Formats: sequence, C-alpha cells, structure tokens
Amino acid sequence: MSFSHVTYKTGTTLPAKRICKEVAIPNNIPTLIDGAHTIGMLNLDFHDIDCDFYSGSGHKWQCGAGATGILYVRDNASRLDEYWSD
Ligand SMILES: Cc1ncc(COP(=O)(O)O)c(C=O)c1O
Repeated sequence: MSFSHVTYKTGTTLPAKRICKEVAIPNNIPTLIDGAHTIGMLNLDFHDIDCDFYSGSGHKWQCGAGATGILYVRDNASRLDEYWSD
C-alpha cells in the first residue's frame, strides 16, 4: 500500500499511523509512505508510524539540492519475508 502522508493538491494529512497499524499490518500489506511534503515539516517517528518504507524529498521543505531525497527502510526490510514467501 502506498499513499502520501500529506497530499500535494490539498495538503490533507492522512492518518499514516492508523492506516499502517489498523489496516496494513493486520492484513499483511507492506506500506510505502510518500513523505515528500513532511520531511522537515512534521515531527516524524517512523517506528511509531510502523511503516515499512518512508520516502522524503530533499529539495522541497528542506530547501536542499535538487534530485535529493531519503528512503527509510524498516529493519532492513526483514518484515517483507512475512508478506511474500519464496
Ligand atoms: C506528494 C508528492 N510526492 C512526490 C513528489 C515528487 O517529489 P520529487 O520532486 O522529490 O521527486 C511530489 C512532488 O511535488 C509530491 O508532491
């Protein structure tokens, strides 16, 4: 499941933690959150949100260089083994 934490068009903040904990995890769905508009703007705790992946843009609210960003991967993606078998 992939979704924006804060959407581009309206600035709506989705309940990322609730989506991960109440929808994705109980149904064994890996999560990738698009945080292009949150890094540097919100106080984020990725373990608390409990997502598998979280991406962020470096050149938006961080005022960093173009074509930069971050990718958080929870526990070296070890939880993905629970989702897909060999
Ligand atoms: C919600 C959202 N995700 C991702 C992107 C893409 O970010 P980047 O320019 O760092 O590739 C944008 C760009 O505006 C965006 O608004």
